[in-house]
Amino acid sequence: MNVLTLETTCDETSAAVVNDRLEVLGTVVASQDELHRRFGGVVPEIASRAHLERMLPVLDETLRRAGLALGDLDAVAVAHTPGLAGSLLVGLVAAKTLAMALDVPLVAVNHLQAHIYACRLAAGPEVFPCVGLIVSGGHTNLYRCLGPLDFTLLGATIDDAAGEAFDKVASMLGLPYPGGPSLSRAAVQGDPNAYRLPRPMLDEPDRLDFSFSGLKTAVRYLLVGPGRHDFEQLELSPKKVADLAAAFQEAVVDCLVGKAFQALAATGLRTLCVGGGVAANARLRQRLAERAGDESVALYVAPMELCTDNAVMGAIALERIRAGQFAPLTLDVKPGVVRA
Ligand code: KG4
Ligand code: ZN
Repeated sequence: MNVLTLETTCDETSAAVVNDRLEVLGTVVASQDELHRRFGGVVPEIASRAHLERMLPVLDETLRRAGLALGDLDAVAVAHTPGLAGSLLVGLVAAKTLAMALDVPLVAVNHLQAHIYACRLAAGPEVFPCVGLIVSGGHTNLYRCLGPLDFTLLGATIDDAAGEAFDKVASMLGLPYPGGPSLSRAAVQGDPNAYRLPRPMLDEPDRLDFSFSGLKTAVRYLLVGPGRHDFEQLELSPKKVADLAAAFQEAVVDCLVGKAFQALAATGLRTLCVGGGVAANARLRQRLAERAGDESVALYVAPMELCTDNAVMGAIALERIRAGQFAPLTLDVKPGVVRA
């Protein structure tokens, strides 16, 4: 069985063909970074227009790489929640059209479950049951995951997502877009103890939520003081940029690692799966591995190429197909987080 999966939740246009042995036959990820760079963040209208332009070329190239024709597809899956409404719609309309034209079933993919499924793809079914930590540009969520499709929300950010905070602080420091990777590169040369930054909510083990907006403001005050946003005028020394980047990254990593292990303690689970764009962060991966080693927790972090948005993780569609869960052609987008 060959399943086409489409992913257009934010600013990556991606397609993959995966078979029922979870082998990836072909995939393409078309990034829009260059379109959003000058705005310092994803502009929803630009993202949806770019998806429209890219969808058919991405589809053609994915099939070419897989060595398949449209007629070889047995089902079409699409991430329909959560994400940017206009972006989601492009993938959904493409998937519905193909399903109808090819007379094959349509399968709905929850993008957050798919981020955790990236760990399953790399490591096998033993990753479940687990605590799932999803850290991306749009989400910072902790779940009790009893199976690939059985998620219960334990906690989430009450303001900015971790990736969003990385992106905004990187922009204050004059680092290039996308901010997460460039801030983590700058942090390598920095001293994480050069500045004292807060660890919001870390001292509240009974509350599995996150907050990153105050941390971002703390960095802003260190740069320009209250009420000012004139970062462009700053002439920051490379040392100050590196130290602030390292101090900020360490604070975020402390919160993410701390809360994930508080969730393990609260649920009694002994396995942790981590996915989403920020899971590509080297310091986060290192600190998670250290703590998991200390506490004998089984840790699975998504492989680097499956951390940021991609259609391969849409292979979770095979789980729905096995469970007989097909979507009607009336399937709609659900842009907000579904509190499962
Ligand atoms: O999962 P993703 O591709 O998209 C969403 O679903 O949001 O995550 C993108 C986010 C961006 O905020 C980006 O800055 C962040 O992941 N990111 C990183 C790193 N690589 C990507 N953040 C920190 N360190 C990284 N190495
Ligand atoms: Zn994502």
